[in-house]
Amino acid sequence: EPARAWSGRLATVRPTDVLVREPEDPGDHRRFFHRLVTFERHPNVLPQARARAEAGLAEAELLFAHGADGVLTDASWFPYTPEALMERVERIYWDKLVDPYEPLTEIPSRDEVVFEQSTYALGSLIDGTWAHRIGNLGRRGRRSDDLLFSIYADEMGRGDMAKNHITIIHKVLASMDMDLPHIRQEAFLHQGDLPDHLYGFSIHQVCLSLFPDSLYNEILGYNLGIEMFGLGAMRLHEIQKLRRHGLDVSYEEAHLSIDNFSAGHARQSAEIVVAYLDEVLRGSGEEAVQREWRRIWRGYASFAYFVEHALVKRVRAAGAAAEPVAAPADTPADLVI
Ligand SMILES: [Fe+2]
Ligand SMILES: [Fe+2]
Repeated sequence: EPARAWSGRLATVRPTDVLVREPEDPGDHRRFFHRLVTFERHPNVLPQARARAEAGLAEAELLFAHGADGVLTDASWFPYTPEALMERVERIYWDKLVDPYEPLTEIPSRDEVVFEQSTYALGSLIDGTWAHRIGNLGRRGRRSDDLLFSIYADEMGRGDMAKNHITIIHKVLASMDMDLPHIRQEAFLHQGDLPDHLYGFSIHQVCLSLFPDSLYNEILGYNLGIEMFGLGAMRLHEIQKLRRHGLDVSYEEAHLSIDNFSAGHARQSAEIVVAYLDEVLRGSGEEAVQREWRRIWRGYASFAYFVEHALVKRVRAAGAAAEPVAAPADTPADLVI
């Protein structure tokens, strides 16, 4: 009885030296990013992360209707069968990533190449993040869990620091005289090498990654998008440009190899989706498969959304002309990754 009384009193008392307040508006991308990557020190960032992830996924559904026009992705909607998914990823690989490849005949100046690399760098500095909580306690019930964790382990170099993709990108950036602090350090808030307006891509990814249970499907789809992005013409062009100026190509080369479409991360990512939905089919039936699939494909679209910034801009402009609606705040339409 006294314990209950004490408990009741403690629950109602308002300590004068504790300030409780709502988290600030995450409008400042640098600060929001900092809180996300140090979320144990900023636990009140979680509701904002959740809201941001949900908003990003909802916005990306725009590409269900228009995604076929993507340059490097095709997020247009299709009903799932394992064969239909494999057909789609084959088409993206050949039609969008590989067949358009032609070697560059003109190489931009060193400054332009370095600037372009700086626009990709933040995304590279969080390489693997989308899956970083996939090995959570008790999470080994499905084949897709092991398969996705295996990709994450590769991203981290499987214990070999020299092969850790974050180590590799730091080495590459150092070859361009960019010596960035670790993303979790306060000093990263004030880094002067990476452009401000490109944080949205990384913020979306970290937000998704913080919810490996409730946004599991979305992470599987996002994983497919990002692993296919390591391939084809864009990477080959980057290698050509970096080589010409004597800059480090190891990050690009590592991805062409480890993400390869025959058996590497890109192929594995499609197989993860098939493995997961196969278990859903056996456990819950076809209707559940289509429901779960929709969430997976939203995850893919939410990756494509950032890559296809020009397409998103066009679709928005056409929509705005047809019916004047305000674009959602923080539209990362000018984002390049
Ligand atoms: Fe990687
Ligand atoms: Fe990868």
